[in-house]
Amino acid sequence: MRVCSIVGARPQFVKAAVVSDAIREVGEEVLVHTGQHYDEEMSAVFFEELGIPEPDFNLGVKSDTHGRQTAKMIAEIEPIVEETDPDVILLYGDTNSTLAGAIVGSKCDTVVAHVEAGLRSHNRDMPEEINRVLTDHASDLCFPPSESAVDALASEGITDGVYWTGDVMYDSVLAVRDRVANISTVLDDLGVEAGEFILATVHRQSNTDRRENLESILAGLEDAQKPIVFPAHPRTVEALEEYGLRERADDALEIVEPLGYLDFVRLLDTADRVVTDSGGVQKEAFFLETPCVTLREETEWTETVDAGWNELVGTDTERIRAALTDERTPETSPNPYGDGTASRRIAEILKERIDGDGASEAE
Ligand code: UD1
Ligand code: UDP
Repeated sequence: MRVCSIVGARPQFVKAAVVSDAIREVGEEVLVHTGQHYDEEMSAVFFEELGIPEPDFNLGVKSDTHGRQTAKMIAEIEPIVEETDPDVILLYGDTNSTLAGAIVGSKCDTVVAHVEAGLRSHNRDMPEEINRVLTDHASDLCFPPSESAVDALASEGITDGVYWTGDVMYDSVLAVRDRVANISTVLDDLGVEAGEFILATVHRQSNTDRRENLESILAGLEDAQKPIVFPAHPRTVEALEEYGLRERADDALEIVEPLGYLDFVRLLDTADRVVTDSGGVQKEAFFLETPCVTLREETEWTETVDAGWNELVGTDTERIRAALTDERTPETSPNPYGDGTASRRIAEILKERIDGDGASEAE
């Protein structure tokens, strides 16, 4: 079995790290990096820290408008698929790199498989929602992380080739959580104490591309009683500078460069709470039992909200302020995102579908 895995953005490196390992135990992998993320701290650091193999191809696409960026990726991925002739094109999540791979894969004689299938925010203004829906519908195999994702696929008529596997990000967190407690010096480096700081990240297009949203978030964080560590995505730094909010942000927040995964997980594990608009960070906070405040009105990770670990506050200043200190009584119910073996299951299912008699679906 030869699998062509397509990655390009930070969360995909985290997901691919565990899945690549599992795939390489049972078959061959051709790793394609679209180059959607390219700064050292947005890309190379993950390959180094997580031992992800050097990509076989790096397309160097970099930033552009959604249409041009996706189109460039499609044009570059197609000849690679022709040249390497994979049995499977493996896609992760909901970025433009995911969609580009889905379009190429669906137009050639290759199985298309989607990790993190079936997630829905039901907000069609999110570019990621469009990418998710189109990718699921272009895929032959779907690997939803939760039962609600299986149901979402079924409600759209996708029932063939659906395998509930659990969430690969849970595998990643389990793989590093204990190790980072011993090796990461990030708390000392930043001069913060466990339980005595807030971790915050913002990068969602709806928050960075509207000045009023970014300003309202900043106002909500300004009077926090604990220091706020803010590893800043490059698009957020650009937005703060463009809107003349950088100085105000520097007064309110401890702005640092984006962190490597190991230091980030250490901070997430020890923060009093996390404030974020990231998809992956909401989930990781849940896995690490850190209360999360989500700067969005809806989430595709609904189980984290239902269990009481995650609160949706949008960009409203007062709601953010209140959520920084409110009391929570979260449930420690069984993890709806599996048992930490999603990567191995995905590799085994692919192997059986390609080389064997076929695995049973939606198990
Ligand atoms: C992308 C994904 C988003 C995901 C996020 C993870 C899409 C549509 N969006 O958003 O779903 O949550 O990655 O972080 O695919 N930039 C740099 N250096 C880099 C990368 C980006 O400076 O290495 C800056 C550029 O100004 C660029 C902007 O960030 O224009 C946005 O980058 P892009 O990859 O287009 O989208 P993200 O916001 O990162
Ligand atoms: N992350 C990281 N360093 C940071 C911020 C995030 O390693 O400074 C990791 C985080 O642990 C998670 C992933 O990046 O695994 C999430 O990426 P991001 O928030 O950019 O994207 P999303 O999940 O929203 O698509």
